[in-house]
Amino acid sequence: MFQRCQTNGFVTWIKSGWLLIMVSLILMNMESMIQAASPLPVVLWHGMGDSCCFPFSMGKIEDTIRSQFNHSNIYIHSIRIGSNDAEDVENSYLMNVNKQVQMVCDTLKKDPNLQNGFNAIGFSQGSQFLRAYVQRCNQPKVHNLISIGGQHQGVYGLPKCIGVNHTLCEYVREMLDIGVYWEWIQNTLVQAEYWHDPWNEAEFIERCVFLPDINNYRAVKNETYKANLSSLNKFVMVKFLLDSFVQPIESEHFGFYKPGQDKEVVKLRDSQLYQEDWLGLKKLDLAGRLDFLEVYGDHLQFTLEWFIDNIVNPYLKN
Ligand SMILES: *[C@@H]1O[C@H](CO)[C@@H](O)[C@H](O)[C@H]1NC(C)=O
Ligand SMILES: *[C@@H]1O[C@H](CO)[C@@H](O)[C@H](O)[C@H]1NC(C)=O
Ligand SMILES: *[C@@H]1O[C@H](CO)[C@@H](O)[C@H](O)[C@H]1NC(C)=O
Ligand SMILES: *[C@@H]1O[C@H](CO)[C@@H](O)[C@H](O)[C@H]1NC(C)=O
Repeated sequence: MFQRCQTNGFVTWIKSGWLLIMVSLILMNMESMIQAASPLPVVLWHGMGDSCCFPFSMGKIEDTIRSQFNHSNIYIHSIRIGSNDAEDVENSYLMNVNKQVQMVCDTLKKDPNLQNGFNAIGFSQGSQFLRAYVQRCNQPKVHNLISIGGQHQGVYGLPKCIGVNHTLCEYVREMLDIGVYWEWIQNTLVQAEYWHDPWNEAEFIERCVFLPDINNYRAVKNETYKANLSSLNKFVMVKFLLDSFVQPIESEHFGFYKPGQDKEVVKLRDSQLYQEDWLGLKKLDLAGRLDFLEVYGDHLQFTLEWFIDNIVNPYLKN
């Protein structure tokens, strides 16, 4: 009798043990299902003359991303600099970039929906500004950084006006002609802050207030920039093969003119910046985490199908 009871007790004990294991397996499964149902948020930074929320530009991008997540609640934060769309457009020409990046660092740090990290997509100049976010702040952390037509080595020429405000854009072009590396122009004009004059590399490095710093061109290299950039899961750069706005086009793949002339272009992998690995790009590349994409089209001219197949599916669904 006693013996049987004990056996029964043992069987019950075994059974409840199994039950516990089953329950925890189910719970674990549910947890991974919940994780799969809540994808990493996305942060967008628009280009020059654009704003966070025009329905024909960033609004369309947002809708497209949402459509690929079955309109579930993927969180998307489209960066706006200023308190309305008009200010946002104006600031894309006239607010010091270092200040803009700092503002974005402060805003993203406070956004409760981003605290577990996010994927970031920059459009045109928004690409190099998001890269500055990664290098200078990166709290919360960027998982994949996607640059669509960004000018990572700057521009030497602004042949056409982009954006909704032509008057402002033409004003900027005139100022660039007057004295691109003059202090007052550097402090206020966004495009001057990534203007890279290959005929005048020394002056660029010394007086341009943004690009030489984030590209670690100066004698003292910032190791934080390198550590932060190489902590990315993927750094993806899209180049538009027929781009008529960005000179040289190779800047979209982090290449630039060889100093002292403006014809011959040096690709990223042949540059000193890469070979001495000032920014951790070589490290990313050797680890297979640097992707170079090309689009046969003019600046930012891509179809939504291309965007879904080449950006959303491979880089946002993680
Ligand atoms: C969206 O829904 C379709 C059909 O229900 C499903 O096949 C697909 O996997 C879903 N996609 C995502 C990202 O949840
Ligand atoms: C490097 O960058 C970090 C982040 O912006 C900054 O705090 C630090 O002062 C910089 N270091 C140098 C040597 O410039
Ligand atoms: C362009 O910007 C200027 C300066 O901010 C402003 O006065 C003007 O109204 C804007 N034009 C358009 C069409 O938005
Ligand atoms: C990036 O930079 C910031 C500030 O300089 C730092 O606090 C952060 O932890 C860095 N690290 C990574 C991996 O991004």
